[in-house]
Amino acid sequence: MFLPIVAYGDPVLKEVADDISSDHPNLKELIENMYETMYASHGVGLAAPQIGKSIRVFVIDCSTFEEDEPELSGFKKTFINAEILEEEGDAWLFKEGCLSIPEVREEVSRHPKITIRYCDEDFVEHTESYEGLAARVIQHEYDHIEGVLFTDYLSPLRKRMIKRRLEDIRDGKIKSEYRMRFYKSKRRKR
Ligand code: NI
Repeated sequence: MFLPIVAYGDPVLKEVADDISSDHPNLKELIENMYETMYASHGVGLAAPQIGKSIRVFVIDCSTFEEDEPELSGFKKTFINAEILEEEGDAWLFKEGCLSIPEVREEVSRHPKITIRYCDEDFVEHTESYEGLAARVIQHEYDHIEGVLFTDYLSPLRKRMIKRRLEDIRDGKIKSEYRMRFYKSKRRKR
């Protein structure tokens, strides 16, 4: 089932999300729906706050980067209760986008290598290291469960340049290719 994607401006995107327990209700179904939503909106990752749930769950599929990094073909993973333990290396710039912030793409500086501890869908704990674009996508989604958006990293100048666009997204004055949930229109209904 496609779940509407929470747009920029909703406070849920700024919350630090909570860990979940292995008996979290309908977890398998939630994860399936998150993958379905991510694929339908052509994203490479989706975090639970983006569907309005402030819990530490995110899914990624980096297959779209296989031309640059062939080992990413079929690289699909679910991260539950993740914690980034270490970030290393000289920071590099890459143009990021976000399903909650349609049509905004900006260069963001991040470290190229991370070590992360997380549980998989069966609640088996793993500690793994990732580099390159896999690390990049994981860092972006991880930020979502920490209440951080990639636009938070931009310089004051870049922030000014996209301010209007962000306000339009917040106010629901945009058209997106997938169904979104806007904070302002939600408030109006109450
Ligand atoms: Ni995002």
